[in-house]
Amino acid sequence: MKIIKQWLLLFCCLPYAVSAIDLDNGEEINEVCAGCHGEFAKGGKDGEYPRISGQPAEFIAQQLRLFRARERQNMPMLPHTEARELPDSDINDVSAYINQIQLITQLPPMDEENFDALERLLQTKKMLNIPKIDGDVETGKSLYNKECRSCHGAEGKGKEAQAVPMLAGQYTNYLWKQVGKYRAGERIHDEDEPDEELLNDFSDEQLHAIFAYLSVADDE
Ligand code: HEC
Ligand code: HEC
Repeated sequence: MKIIKQWLLLFCCLPYAVSAIDLDNGEEINEVCAGCHGEFAKGGKDGEYPRISGQPAEFIAQQLRLFRARERQNMPMLPHTEARELPDSDINDVSAYINQIQLITQLPPMDEENFDALERLLQTKKMLNIPKIDGDVETGKSLYNKECRSCHGAEGKGKEAQAVPMLAGQYTNYLWKQVGKYRAGERIHDEDEPDEELLNDFSDEQLHAIFAYLSVADDE
């Protein structure tokens, strides 16, 4: 019985072993990314640099391949995504590394008795809570659940297996900027229907309500 189990293990996991992800390599590459996206990939400058930590690894990898092929324009990142700089194996490593960085949305209560200044500093650096924007959260929530949730997941958390990005926990400015790119045909929203930009069906007012909901959906 034991032997059979070992064989099963070998068959199931061999393909993974061959293309094993190297998280140490990913961490090293991320030092370059951190120059813009920040040490824990939480982005900055109010969304000029998007938060990428915790995004599905396959979504990150896909966007990097699009930048490299210049199918999605990204001038600041171009020098970092040339094939020589970023071969596929590096793309997979850095995407897996960034995917597993976990941010927090609020600081845990202070432990007065065993205060650890270094630990506290680390927690502060890993904290990201998108500021609430004014808007009709209730309308936004029901629109979101009806029109976006099937792909972007419950509470805007994204879907790892389908490589759909999380929207809650992303800077509102960044989301708006991407809406502009989809509408202008500079990005493709839904690969299955590239000619139908689904955000065109929504007014700015409706999207504003959706983003208001998403800006509080990341509160915990
Ligand atoms: C020189 C600055 C800079 C560096 C270095 C950089 N990025 Fe970026 N990155 C950007 C900017 C700016 C954007 C947003 C582009 C836009 O507005 O569409 C971006 C967007 C992205 C996105 C798309 C996110 C989304 O949700 O749409 C991913 C993924 C990404 N970067 C990953 C990386 C990785 C991985 C590295 C390191 C290999 C890296 N970036 C290095 C500036 C940078
Ligand atoms: C059919 C599935 C589907 C539906 C429905 C959908 N999306 Fe998306 N969305 C995606 C996928 C897939 C991506 C990543 C595509 C890419 O490569 O640019 C995405 C990306 C985005 C992005 C860019 C995020 C980033 O980090 O770059 C925004 C903003 C967005 N969607 C908003 C919405 C909103 C708002 C709705 C509802 C009105 C919606 N989407 C409905 C599949 C969907």
